[in-house]
Amino acid sequence: MDAIVSLCRRRGFMFQSSEIYGGLNGFWDYGPLGVELKRNVREAWWRDMVTSHNELVAPPGAPSSFAMVGLDCTIIMHPQVWKCSGHYDLFHDYMVDCRESKRRYRHDQVQGRWVVKDDQRIFVATELVGAEAEEDVLHKALKFFGLRAKDAESLRWESPLVSLTTVERFDRVLAPDAKTLGTLTPPREFNLMFKTYVGALSGEENAAFLRPETAQGIFVNFKNVLDSTRVKLPFGIAQVGKSFRNEITPRNFTFRSREFEQMEIEFFCRPETSRAWYEYWRNRRYQWYVDLGLGRERLRLRDHEPSELSHYSCGTADVEYAFPFLAPGDFGELEGVAHRGDFDLRSHMEGKLVRQGDALAVEVGPDGQPKYRGSGRDLAYFDDETREKFVPHVIEPSAGADRATLAFLCEAYQEDEAPDESGKPAKRTVLRLHPRLAPIKAAVFPLVKKDGMPEIARDIYAALKPLCNVFYDEKGAVGRRYRRQDEIGTPFCITVDSQTAADGTVTIRDRDTLKQWRIRADDCPAVISGLISGTAQIPE
Ligand code: GAP
Repeated sequence: MDAIVSLCRRRGFMFQSSEIYGGLNGFWDYGPLGVELKRNVREAWWRDMVTSHNELVAPPGAPSSFAMVGLDCTIIMHPQVWKCSGHYDLFHDYMVDCRESKRRYRHDQVQGRWVVKDDQRIFVATELVGAEAEEDVLHKALKFFGLRAKDAESLRWESPLVSLTTVERFDRVLAPDAKTLGTLTPPREFNLMFKTYVGALSGEENAAFLRPETAQGIFVNFKNVLDSTRVKLPFGIAQVGKSFRNEITPRNFTFRSREFEQMEIEFFCRPETSRAWYEYWRNRRYQWYVDLGLGRERLRLRDHEPSELSHYSCGTADVEYAFPFLAPGDFGELEGVAHRGDFDLRSHMEGKLVRQGDALAVEVGPDGQPKYRGSGRDLAYFDDETREKFVPHVIEPSAGADRATLAFLCEAYQEDEAPDESGKPAKRTVLRLHPRLAPIKAAVFPLVKKDGMPEIARDIYAALKPLCNVFYDEKGAVGRRYRRQDEIGTPFCITVDSQTAADGTVTIRDRDTLKQWRIRADDCPAVISGLISGTAQIPE
């Protein structure tokens, strides 16, 4: 992971936000290459899910044909949205504070081991994971008991690494950054929504929130979309945009950030077909990552246990990736696909809902009135063929653009060997990004800066520019130029050489196979477009 982070910084994929002022934890900027990569992830998603979707035929595995439309909502919405959705009351994590180090931790992200020395039994806590956590805990235990490494056998370990959530009393806990026992406060709720004020007055009546998900903007516009378009069930509304969560412990590069981008679909269907649509979307969304290059051995589709499901959910599956910063065997969430029933539309009609037995009912306050009133608008759907009126069920595939970008980067990063300028095998760093995602699709080089080669190369560059992002480079040995492109994932390099002036052909080189072949210079736009879209193949 360190090598990937270092490449991202060195080659301008990602930087820490406000770095010159020491950075701001949980916020990341995308540099010149990163912005292209993330745009390509977003655009691949939008194109595959929305604009290239053919609503006249049922895609493989889908119960029927369906429509897809897009939406772009505001980040700040009416505060009642978050009260009815449940975020105002329920969108929190538990945190613990350390009185000694003044550090704050997410309760469920601290783990540790019970250890005994003589008659003292303590829980040594750490924020690290996997082998690093084991080492950290051992190191801290030795230090706490004043032992040297050679005396490690005098420690009696009573548990493997277990979560701090399994520990009932904290007086025996050695906090991750503390020297003394019992410095952690009891866990407290912490709402993750960022609060702000709308207008000149900062009183509670003007308080609003930065959206923690894009989904609610879709639900509150459901009727607008229905009334302003001719969509009929089943159909999906897609949105890509920023979301904000005041995460207690942002970590693992961009994986858990405080400002991030989501790519969400709310798919509306008839209740009796919702199970089949849920199956369709969970499989379709898994396949999307595979098609863009994530290896199946590092990707899994995990169905939630009934105990993990939200109170309104009838089923959820996560698409998870084995990020390299996780302990071996661990996976991190890329996307959640949830069957949400009619919870969201009903909440915005009736008011905040709670589960009562098998049903959902409006939560009432001490006065017997709804705790948070809904909009009162009728968000039911009228089917003019069957003459039925009902509240549609919702399937929600909810992906993170930053997590997907990070997963594609981690998967693409490889170190291998390729011949250098003198033909000797040399170590190379290569990003094997899918051509659709690569920030730069092709680089154009004149072999040398003379004999008319730069002029021809510039013409090729100019012909490719309107089609895709291309890079021109005439500096240094050509082998070094190839390597600079390999390192940032450019799939194809085109070289103008002495043969070009004679027969009008150039060399094209494939980043992954290192295969080189000649094509006509005039054909570069058609060949590069074909290779990127997958309609042309690298010759055998
Ligand atoms: N509307 C449902 C929803 O927001 P979620 O599982 O909380 O569900 C969906 O978020 C996706 O958004 C996650 O799978 C992840 O990819 C991304 N995401 C959530 N929190 C994030 C964070 N703090 N940093 C980066 N991405 C995040």
